[in-house]
Amino acid sequence: MADIQRVGVVGAGLMGSGIAEVHARAGIDVVVTEVSQPALDAGRARIEKSLQRGVRAGKLTEADAEAAVKRLTFTTDLSAFADRDLVVEAILEQEQAKVEVFRSLDKVVEREDAIFASNTSSIPIMKLGMATRRPAQVIGIHFFNPVPVLPLVELVPSLLTGEETIARAEAHATEVLGKTVIRSQDRAGFIVNALLVPYLLSAIRMIESGFASAVDIDRGMELGTAHPMGPLRLSDLIGLDTIKAIAESMYEEFKEPLYSPPPLLLRMVDAGLLGKKSGRGFYSYA
Ligand code: 3HC
Repeated sequence: MADIQRVGVVGAGLMGSGIAEVHARAGIDVVVTEVSQPALDAGRARIEKSLQRGVRAGKLTEADAEAAVKRLTFTTDLSAFADRDLVVEAILEQEQAKVEVFRSLDKVVEREDAIFASNTSSIPIMKLGMATRRPAQVIGIHFFNPVPVLPLVELVPSLLTGEETIARAEAHATEVLGKTVIRSQDRAGFIVNALLVPYLLSAIRMIESGFASAVDIDRGMELGTAHPMGPLRLSDLIGLDTIKAIAESMYEEFKEPLYSPPPLLLRMVDAGLLGKKSGRGFYSYA
């Protein structure tokens, strides 16, 4: 919707940089924040690399990519969000850290009608809404990785999210970003991760029990069910730390054993084997 012209993105990791990129490509002025300059620089490099990939794939012109870069401002100072119409939080999947971000946004963002969104996939939107004085303007807008490629957004209102916020967020995601929106209740995992994460955990348990190799499990799902990537390569893409965090939130919410992260996943995260982003997970990425 044209009323959202200025967007802020908190976090320039895998998801935050993708969210910033799709906004800049859609003609929106974007401010991106990170906790440190190196994290900010890494986010900027990730966006520029992805834009170039888009150019090579014929999805946008070199001039479009340059214009998108010009619409992006990178800063470590959250007060740059004062004039934002929409802020999307995309930091680590940790409840307390997210609550702190929402508390700060409430203080910093001056626009009375600003929307505060979270890209969380498993932390209750209600907890984030209650960290602000404006829970009617807090909503989950959950993107999928790689954000410039995957067309879906899950829209997750809490019990207190206002109808106007839902309508504005939906119009923004569809009309401005060109995404397809599905709606979910505010339950850990929403729709997609509630189905996807138990499947990924099952694949990890298969390796753990010596049932089959990563390559054969992935090949099975790619060639046998036409998934674009098997569960272990997909786990590496999402990030094993992120999967662990989502699984823990879902387990805490539902107490279902199928959501409980298997020990192999925990040990890999302890070892820093986080998947593609760290260079090694179930596969190695030179
Ligand atoms: N910008 C624009 N377009 C791009 C692009 C970019 N930066 N990078 C790639 N593309 C386009 C390509 O041009 C291509 O388009 P085409 O089909 O029209 O030719 C398409 O995207 C596919 O790209 P590639 O050919 O380079 O790559 P692959 O065919 O190997 O696909 C993949 C890579 C898109 C990652 C695919 O394997 C895939 O979809 N995997 C599954 C990913 C998935 O399930 N993600 C969801 C994870 S869950 C999540 O994110 C939620 C969280 O809460 C955990």
